[in-house]
Amino acid sequence: MRGKDVTLEGVSITYPNGFTAVHPTDLTVEAGEFFSILGPSGCGKTTILRSVSGFVEPTAGRVLIGGEDQRGRTPNDRNTALIFQNLALFPLMSVRDNVAFGLEARGISRRARHDKADELLALVALHDQADKKPTELSGGQRQRVAIARALAVEPAVLLLDEPLSALDLKLRQHMRAELRAIQKQTGVTFIYITHDQGEALTMSDRIAVMNEGRIEQVGTGDAVYAEPATAFAASFVGESNILAGRIDRSEDGYAAIETALGGFRARNPQGLPAGAGALLFVRPEAMRLGGGENTVAGQLTRRDLEGPFVNLFFAAGGQEIAVHLTNSGALPALDGDVALSFAAEDALVLPEGALAATGQEMAAQ
Ligand SMILES: Nc1ncnc2c1ncn2[C@@H]1O[C@H](COP(=O)(O)OP(=O)(O)O)[C@@H](O)[C@H]1O
Ligand SMILES: [Mg+2]
Repeated sequence: MRGKDVTLEGVSITYPNGFTAVHPTDLTVEAGEFFSILGPSGCGKTTILRSVSGFVEPTAGRVLIGGEDQRGRTPNDRNTALIFQNLALFPLMSVRDNVAFGLEARGISRRARHDKADELLALVALHDQADKKPTELSGGQRQRVAIARALAVEPAVLLLDEPLSALDLKLRQHMRAELRAIQKQTGVTFIYITHDQGEALTMSDRIAVMNEGRIEQVGTGDAVYAEPATAFAASFVGESNILAGRIDRSEDGYAAIETALGGFRARNPQGLPAGAGALLFVRPEAMRLGGGENTVAGQLTRRDLEGPFVNLFFAAGGQEIAVHLTNSGALPALDGDVALSFAAEDALVLPEGALAATGQEMAAQ
């Protein structure tokens, strides 16, 4: 199998009721890449995927697969396969026949179909389950049957629409590694849709962060985490302490920002000018106990011990400040006003903009 690249050129999608689910989008997914589209429910992820599979025609723009314009091609004419949450395996067929199903329509002999199915079942580590019915398998095994079935038609691009969301947490985490391994082994291009940042960060070569019909940032997980391009990306991926303020001064890639909790210095990658409204972002793991370059005073409200980590929450001027520390033994007494600080290079100012609703607590549902 061989992956192909997928390009969206100015793709926008307006549904017949007049609602624009995807605003003009340019995107290139490389051949053989594990690419995720990450965003909250309703932001347009499935709509974009359907434009690649051919179930939705773009209102404007075009999709290319392996450099070939897909306009006018039906889903069956495209070199893609789709997997979603509801697997729709055939309950009365054996696992082997489920995997071989798509090959029959292509006029492939029964023998060759079964050989192909067995080869794919070996790939997903189910070679010893071929004669069972899907109902005799666990949820994770059924998911792997669905993947084998989708791969049977040798797609260049596998489109996965939140395929793990019906599984329980432990299985979901296990399947991340499985999916990643299958993708690497086959070299097929994977476009994986999820609202779960953990899935996107652990599996993907690159991630597109999407909000309200727009892709706001494309990059590796590390890049999106360390250098979020928008307030939405900063608040949706990972946790952040966020303070609203106004830029006071700006020079050499840094800014002084005035907030309700005082003035701070932070990186200013987009060169926001003095006077601009801005948001200051500091990751909880960048916060320290004790004073420093940028100091806030807060009162401890909650302490969560998470094995190797301790998560502390402080109240500071009506705002909650989260501090994540590695659990390296006894903490100092944290009574009364506690000084908290962060380094300017660990903080970021970005233009004001929409924030993720309730972050990942909601997305994790
Ligand atoms: N057939 C449709 N007609 C009108 N609006 C739709 C249709 N399908 C989806 N939408 C709307 O488009 C937006 C994006 O939907 P979708 O692509 O399914 O989002 P996601 O997969 O990110 O949850 C949502 O507001 C949804 O209600
Ligand atoms: Mg969806």
